[in-house]
Amino acid sequence: MATPPSGNFLTGDQIRQTFLSFYEAKAHKRLPSASLVPEDTTVLLTIAGMLQFKPIFLGQRKAEVDRATTSQKCIRTNDIENVGRTARHHTFFEMLGNFSFGDYFKKEAIAWAWELSTQVLKLPVERLVVSVFETDDEAYDIWKNDIGVRETHIRRMGEADNFWASGPTGPCGPCSEIYYDFHPERGDQDIDLEDDSRFIEFYNLVFMQYNRDAEGKLTPLANQNIDTGMGLERMAQILQGKPNNYETDLIFPIIEAASKISGLHYEQASEAQKTSYKVIGDHVRAVSHLIADGVVASNLGRGYICGG
Ligand code: ALA
Repeated sequence: MATPPSGNFLTGDQIRQTFLSFYEAKAHKRLPSASLVPEDTTVLLTIAGMLQFKPIFLGQRKAEVDRATTSQKCIRTNDIENVGRTARHHTFFEMLGNFSFGDYFKKEAIAWAWELSTQVLKLPVERLVVSVFETDDEAYDIWKNDIGVRETHIRRMGEADNFWASGPTGPCGPCSEIYYDFHPERGDQDIDLEDDSRFIEFYNLVFMQYNRDAEGKLTPLANQNIDTGMGLERMAQILQGKPNNYETDLIFPIIEAASKISGLHYEQASEAQKTSYKVIGDHVRAVSHLIADGVVASNLGRGYICGG
C-alpha cells in the first residue's frame, strides 16, 4: 500500500528542477552531468556527483566557479544483489548535488539543505532526523543551535556511516546526513537510523577537507569544500508517497512497458515476479545510459557491466 505523500507532491523532473533552481538562486552555476565513463582512472564508472570535481578538490585543477550544482547520472554495482529486493537500491541513479570549492562550508551547507528540505520540498520537520560524524561537534552544534533540531533527532555515527570517501585514496571528509522517518509514531526514544523499515537517508552533506594517501594518512586539503548528494529516486519515493523507488514516475513507466510485453500486470504479479520487474526497471535504465555514453557490451571492464 502506498503511504500518502508527505511534503509537496512533485514529479521526478520537478524535483530535479527544484533542486537545481534552488541552488542557482544561491549563486551556484548549473553544470551538466558528466559522462558515466569517468576521466578518473581509479574508478570504472561515475559513482558520485563529486567525481568530475575531484581534481579541483585535490588542487590539481583550478575551479572555474566557486559554487556548482548538478544532477549527476551514477552507476554503482556494489549494491547489485539488493536491486529489486529492497525499496531503494539501484545500479543506476541520479544524484543531485551542490558543491563549494573553498567557498562556503558547514554552516551554509547545513542551513541550505534544511531550507530546501523543509521550506521548498515541504518535508515535515518532525519527520527529519540528522546524523553527524561522532567527533564532529561543530556540525552537531549547527544542527542543534542554528537550525533548532531536537537532540533526540541528531545522531552521532561512526566512520562507516559518516565519513565519506570516493575510494580508498583521495579526497574525503566527515559527513552529515538527513533521514526521512516513515513511522514517526514509533517515537523519539532510541532512534535507530539503520532501521530501513522506518528511515531512508536522502541527503548526504560531505565536508570535503582531507586527502587520504595509500597508507591511510589524512592530510588537510588546501581548501575546505562541500560535496553533497541527494538521491533523486529516494526523494521521489518520499514526495510521491510510494512504497519503493521503483514505483515512482522515474522507473515505473519501464515496468509498465515490460508488463505489456509479458502480458502480466505488475499489480497481479507475485512478490518474486515484482522483484523481477524492478530488476528490469533498474537494469534498463543502467544499460541505456551506459550505451548512450559509448559503452559497448563485451567481456571486459565497463563492457562487462553493460553486457553482464
Ligand atoms: N559524495 C557523496 C555521496 O556520494 C555526497 O554520498
